[in-house]
Amino acid sequence: MAKRIDVSGLSAYYGSHLAIEDISMTVEPRSVTAFIGPSGCGKSTFLRTLNRMHEVTPGGRVEGKVLLDDENLYGANVDPVTVRRTVGMVFQRPNPFPTMSIFDNVAAGLKLNGSYKKSQLPDIVEKSLRGANLWNEVKDRLNKPGSGLSGGQQQRLCIARAIAVEPDVLLMDEPCSALDPISTLAIEDLIGELKERFTIVIVTHNMQQAARVSDRTAFFNLAAVGKPGKLIEIDETERIFSNPSVQATEDYISGRFG
Ligand SMILES: Nc1ncnc2c1ncn2[C@@H]1O[C@H](COP(=O)(O)OP(=O)(O)OP(=O)(O)O)[C@@H](O)[C@H]1O
Ligand SMILES: [Mg+2]
Repeated sequence: MAKRIDVSGLSAYYGSHLAIEDISMTVEPRSVTAFIGPSGCGKSTFLRTLNRMHEVTPGGRVEGKVLLDDENLYGANVDPVTVRRTVGMVFQRPNPFPTMSIFDNVAAGLKLNGSYKKSQLPDIVEKSLRGANLWNEVKDRLNKPGSGLSGGQQQRLCIARAIAVEPDVLLMDEPCSALDPISTLAIEDLIGELKERFTIVIVTHNMQQAARVSDRTAFFNLAAVGKPGKLIEIDETERIFSNPSVQATEDYISGRFG
């Protein structure tokens, strides 16, 4: 069966600095994969190689392959803008466009993309806000600025914006780290619902969160400061948290370092 994502021999550089080295993994469709590991081991860098955001950083360069449904995202004829539409991203800090209305925030990606009819917009915006579990809280103030929402609401707004363009994959880099526990649980519930439709990859420092939301967990680590980050192991989440294959994983999840 075709894997949704199939990474082989992937390394990423910032200028001459090798940040992550020789990573290979696959991701099944309609699943949640969690990335865990100590700060600086390259989780965010690797995540950004999955939608060609890494190369946006000056000096950002990638070696190796990322197949999405069997197509190499780094192939010669591939347009990175199209890739970023197919593989959406939600960031650590909610980043709605502050002066834009809630409605326009959700519609922003579609407008960039151009492939919609104006008359369809209200339906798409409502569906996306419902999908992000935000509709009931904002339906009476769609024309108010997105910046007027709480942090947790803003993050769900960003999720609505990301899913409005119907991506295949949703990348989330510590999406709950700026949120209170209630908003965090709301986002975790939402991830459980979204995986029915999307393939999700989430970076988290919260072990309980990884255990709660993900099907598979990947542990990344550095051999030493200044060395590149590597994938140590990836397995069923239950197994990683109960009986990992590698001692370093065991040490990390039981809080012995990191
Ligand atoms: N814009 C950049 N320019 C140069 N080096 C960078 C840049 N961003 C990250 N790095 C380096 O790449 C390595 C991996 O960083 P990355 O942010 O991917 O780690 P991380 O695992 O996401 O860490 P954290 O858990 O703290 O978010 C680190 O050595 C970091 O200093
Ligand atoms: Mg990071």
